Order: sequence, then structure tokens, then C-alpha cells
Amino acid sequence: EKSGFEHFMLKEIHEQPNAISDTYRGRMLVKKGIIKMAGVDDNIERIANAKRIIIVACGTSWHAGLVAEYIFEDIARIPVEVEYASEFRYRNPVITENDVVIAISQSGETADTMAAIKLAKEKGAFTFGVCNVVGSSISRETHAGAYTHAGPEIGVASTKAFTTQITVLTLMALKLGKFKGTISNSDFQFHLQEMERIPEKVMKALKSDELIQKIAYTYKDAPNCLYLGRGYNFPVALEGALKLKEISYIHAEGYPAAEMKHGPIALIDEQMPVVVIATKKGHYEKVVSNIQEIKSRKGKIIAVVTEGDGEVRELADHVIEVPETIESLTPLLTTIPLQLLSYHIAVMLGKNVDQPRNLAKSVTVE
Ligand code: M6R
Repeated sequence: EKSGFEHFMLKEIHEQPNAISDTYRGRMLVKKGIIKMAGVDDNIERIANAKRIIIVACGTSWHAGLVAEYIFEDIARIPVEVEYASEFRYRNPVITENDVVIAISQSGETADTMAAIKLAKEKGAFTFGVCNVVGSSISRETHAGAYTHAGPEIGVASTKAFTTQITVLTLMALKLGKFKGTISNSDFQFHLQEMERIPEKVMKALKSDELIQKIAYTYKDAPNCLYLGRGYNFPVALEGALKLKEISYIHAEGYPAAEMKHGPIALIDEQMPVVVIATKKGHYEKVVSNIQEIKSRKGKIIAVVTEGDGEVRELADHVIEVPETIESLTPLLTTIPLQLLSYHIAVMLGKNVDQPRNLAKSVTVE
């Protein structure tokens, strides 16, 4: 049931404010200043004392894992590695009993992710699943886990699964950080309050839809597109590029903005749209200078900025605003315009948005 939306993908994009609050509801008790997550609470020593966390996943879930790497290291001070499940399972990885392996999977059925978890268990690691589908294979195979509670995701292009995965992993990092004392009480409390404001801010970000449709119309015939971001928003750039590729069949690449001068900058000319995530928090000034580099090579700049931004507005061809929040939570907002941009381009090109060619919703064969 598409509830009046033209496609499941659009419906699911718009469901994100509720999906995110469903994910933290009952877990995040803001007034009491605590986070309750049974799967973490029951194993807190084991997880908090992990020498290393290895995250295994594929596709969009792997991008959520990359965001989680920044959050876990930043807040809980546990070293994190993020691996494509398919590479991890076949490369004789070093895994010990002191490792915690987290599998992220919307469907909970992805063959490579499942095999990675089995391998990690054989080697004695503690395994933790972040799945959306209740009772799915990965959720049953792992020692413990936390569901994302995003509700059914029908569109092949993952949207609300991504933002709710980031939500769950953020709560987990905060909980571990509090347990380990690597985050101050006031900072912890501030994070909870800011997280509680995310759904309303996502709703605000969704209001840029008309502007994004105009931008989509301008660039729908571009053969290529670059996506750049730094820090917490580098994985968002990868995710934006994947969304565009899979539903519009336009070739797109995501890069950490600073990597541009190590190769991709050669691609930039007046034909090349470059989507840059340039929110105020994080490495703003550095991103601004990357934007200048693109501009001097005549690239077309579509910038995702913080509300009220002036500096990037001067330089960019188009700016899309998102509300302000703390840096670690910006991916929950900056992802929204990128989802809408790929959606509108694909619709304008007449593509089958919900069921793109060659793709399946869950990849149960390797
Ligand atoms: O169900 P999973 O999260 O394990 O699926 C992983 C990928 O197959 C999935 O995210 C895929 O990349 C999506 N089509 C991306 O939109």
C-alpha cells in the first residue's frame, strides 16, 4: 500500500521521521538520561571491552557501517573496522575471541553477510545483528542484536533502513561511551536531546522537495555525477552516489572531498555536476576550499548546507538547506536531499524506481 505516494521509495523517504522515532522510542529515555537496549545491556562487558569492533555489511548497510565507525571511535573509543562482507569472508581474516563483529542488514538475509557472521562465530567472536526484518536469518544467527524498527521497506533502493541503522548504531555507541566513561554526562545528555529533535528536522529537510525537483530537472541528462563529503558525511556521499546509480542508471562516484585532487578532479569540466555536502559542523572550511577548486574548473556545484549558510551560497550553483544539529547526527539529515534528488531524476527519466533493472531487494545468493 503506497498510501497516496506514487512509489514505495517516495513513501519510505517520507516515513523517515516516524521510522527514526520508532527506532529510538522506548530505548532512549531522555529525562532519565539513559539508553536501554536489551541486546547491549545483557552483554555490556563483552561489547565495551572488545579490543576491536568489526562491522560487516553490503551496499547501503555498509555505508551505515562507515558512519558507525566514526561514531563508535569518536564516542566509545573502540577501534572499528568496516568490511564488505564478501571480502571479509574470503580473505582468512584475523578474528579473535576479543572481537565483536556487528552485521548490518535490512533484510537479514544477505548471503555474504550471513556467511561472514558464521565465520566470525566459528573463530569465537561475539556477534551482534542490526537487522530490520524481525526473525530474519541474520537476527537468529547472531548472539545478540537490535532491530531497526523501520517497518517494511519495499523499494529496492534502501532509504529508511539506512537512517534507522544509523540511529540504532548511534544509540549503541552512546550507551557504550557512557558505560566506559568516554563521553561526559553533559555531552551524553546533549546527544539524547539532539537525537530527539531529529525527526522534526528530517521533516523540515523533506520540505526542500520542490527545489530538489528543479535541480533534478536541470541535471537529469548528465551522464556522470560526483558526490563529495568529509568526516561523518563521507559515507553519505557514497550513499548518495549509490542511490543515483541504482535507480537512474547515471554513473556516479562518491569520494572523500580531499581525495579529489588525487585523481577525480581530472573529470571536472562544465558538464560535471558535483554534489557536495558542506554542513557547518565538521570540516566546513576545508570543504569550502574544495568547492572553490571545483568552481575554478567550471564544475556545477549542488551543495547541501546548514540552514542560513552564506559562504557556500556565494559559490555554489544550487544550495539545499538542512537544519543544524551536532556533527555526528548530520548524516541523518544530509542523506534526505540526496535520496530525493536520485528519486526525482529517476522518475523524470521514466525508470522503474521501485524495481530497478538487475537488482533484487534481498541478495540471498553470493
Ligand atoms: O538487506 P541488506 O541490508 O543486507 O542489503 C544490502 C544491500 O544489498 C542493499 O543495501 C543494497 O545495496 C540496496 N539496494 C541499496 O539501496
